[in-house]
Amino acid sequence: MRTEWRRELDWWLKARLRWSAPVFKRRLRDPERLRQRLDAAAVRRWRELASRYDLSRWVEVCSLDEYRECLAVLDLLDRHAGAAPASGRGLDIGSKNGSYLPALVTWHGGGWDGIEIDAHLRYWNLATRRGWAESMLRPWPDCRYIAGSLLDLDPDASRYAVVTWFLPFVTPTPFIAWGLPRRFFMPQRMLEHAWRLLAPGGRMLVVNQGEAEAEAQQGLFEVAGIAATGLGEVGGVFDHPSMPPRYGWLVERTV
Ligand SMILES: C[S@@+](CC[C@H](N)C(=O)[O-])C[C@H]1O[C@@H](n2cnc3c(N)ncnc32)[C@H](O)[C@@H]1O
Repeated sequence: MRTEWRRELDWWLKARLRWSAPVFKRRLRDPERLRQRLDAAAVRRWRELASRYDLSRWVEVCSLDEYRECLAVLDLLDRHAGAAPASGRGLDIGSKNGSYLPALVTWHGGGWDGIEIDAHLRYWNLATRRGWAESMLRPWPDCRYIAGSLLDLDPDASRYAVVTWFLPFVTPTPFIAWGLPRRFFMPQRMLEHAWRLLAPGGRMLVVNQGEAEAEAQQGLFEVAGIAATGLGEVGGVFDHPSMPPRYGWLVERTV
């Protein structure tokens, strides 16, 4: 387990060494390679999604695993997030390396911002998460990957028609395992800020991993006085069988 000073040192270094090497990856040029790994129910659902959404650009940027992750995210949005908003931008909180951003753009084409505090984390090939995410977003110039904290987004400057928040840190243990300095763990403040960033009529989908995190999430909603509809288990046919169950919440902001 890393000590706190070591987390702070890593953070300090990452903030200064921002350059990213170019991203090289094996792209899924032939989706048949993925089809062979999916069961019949997943292939049927893939066909069904492809008949309603344009997935054609995913092969330009996705590896096999990223394509599968995008299918899982699009499937989840399609089943649980209601109709995509008619207009307005979307915000994804904690976008990691942007691996599933193509799914968000495919679901709602109004332009997305993905915000990630740990954007300068570096992979073994010297590419950073930011570099990776920017390469994922190349086909969609109206989307942005923002290296920074959710708390730095100003609700007076921009509000969003839709917010997605997959696997927020709501309990300390996974947060500490992630390696960020502890001072960034503020789940209540983060949730209340996300709420302020929602435009009137906007919607937020939150997905938690495991029952304990879903319970913690419910507590955060209650303290914030935010009415959230529990969606129950939201796992789908594209999830890896080893994945813990996931639970969803939908929040609608009327005013
Ligand atoms: C458990 S990961 C989930 C990543 C991704 N959403 C997914 O579903 O795979 C949580 C992410 O939130 C990011 N994060 C934590 N605090 C944040 C903040 N204040 N602003 C933006 N991102 C934050 C972390 O760096 C991490 O990438």
